[in-house]
Amino acid sequence: EETGKSGYDHFMLKEIHEQPRALRQCLRGRVDELAGTVDIGDLGDLSPTGVQFVACGTSYHAALHGAQLFREAGIPAQAFLASEYATATPPIGDALVVGVTQSGETADTLSALRAARRRGARTLAVTNVVGSTAARECDHALYIRAGPEIGVAATKTFASQLAALNLLALGTSTTGDARQVISALRDLPGHVQEVLDESAAQEVAELYQDASAYFFIGRGYQNPVALEGALKMKEITYKHAEGFAAGELKHGPLALVTENTPVFAIVTGDDERARKTIGNVKEVEARDAPVVAITDGQSDVERYADHVLHIPETHPRAAAVLANTHLQLVSYHTAALLGRNIDKPRNLAKSVTVE
Ligand code: G6P
Repeated sequence: EETGKSGYDHFMLKEIHEQPRALRQCLRGRVDELAGTVDIGDLGDLSPTGVQFVACGTSYHAALHGAQLFREAGIPAQAFLASEYATATPPIGDALVVGVTQSGETADTLSALRAARRRGARTLAVTNVVGSTAARECDHALYIRAGPEIGVAATKTFASQLAALNLLALGTSTTGDARQVISALRDLPGHVQEVLDESAAQEVAELYQDASAYFFIGRGYQNPVALEGALKMKEITYKHAEGFAAGELKHGPLALVTENTPVFAIVTGDDERARKTIGNVKEVEARDAPVVAITDGQSDVERYADHVLHIPETHPRAAAVLANTHLQLVSYHTAALLGRNIDKPRNLAKSVTVE
């Protein structure tokens, strides 16, 4: 097993560092930058009029990203927690039902997909594992091509899921800014490498390893990243962490914010969304919480932050992958400092085959 880690202390760290390669594999042969088009084979003919995503855990956060992509393209789309979908299936109409599942074996997700199929829905598995149950049972499969992931906490597969979902949205619908997204995707592996090479995540982890809780906030495409940042932190550090849509903080969670609860704020661009999130950052700063801004430096969020984790300037969709890379590293280093069993956290399994 030691040799499998290629010199890294843990599979998780190795897999975080494999993200540039995983992303290149996901994109290979599927994007034509000159033409501004995407080729995902037969899937391009799906042209859904509506999309319902079902998924669990980290994959659910990718599904939230996916639903946002389709909504932006003018196609009604929603992400459901698979365990809820199976017991109360919403009206499907002629929507495409997409199961996002790294393993392709998660019982909750398989059960949601089966419920959808029983109602006559077309189904698609977005998965990492060729020949998995989800891939076999669905009408179509889109492979994320991340390569095997050993660490229980999903890392590179989340990045590849986001990239694959962008390909799906570009390949099955028409969006105004396809060229910008395609060029952001092309730059993404190199940008992730920059984040890996320069991240100050370890210093942040050292400073806040004794925090009583960690909060993560983001808007739009950075909202699922906030949720994922908190999930990763919980999974491998066993510490309390919550992610919120930035605007929700003031509707309750703000009561928990103190000088012992660092708030990680993901702020990209310098638009209305960024300005509103900065307003939320000021609210936590006024409660003396340490603020860690994950930002491309376009807005003035740095003025209100105690620390900055910098990401290259890019499309907000790609920025989600970059911000998430910093947060993976913060969780990883915090867990390492706390001496946790990083690759096999207590009580958790890589693939959960019971409902
Ligand atoms: C388990 C894993 C999570 C994963 C979830 C969904 O709970 O511990 O890391 O996100 O299952 O897995 P899937 O294979 O369906 O993506």
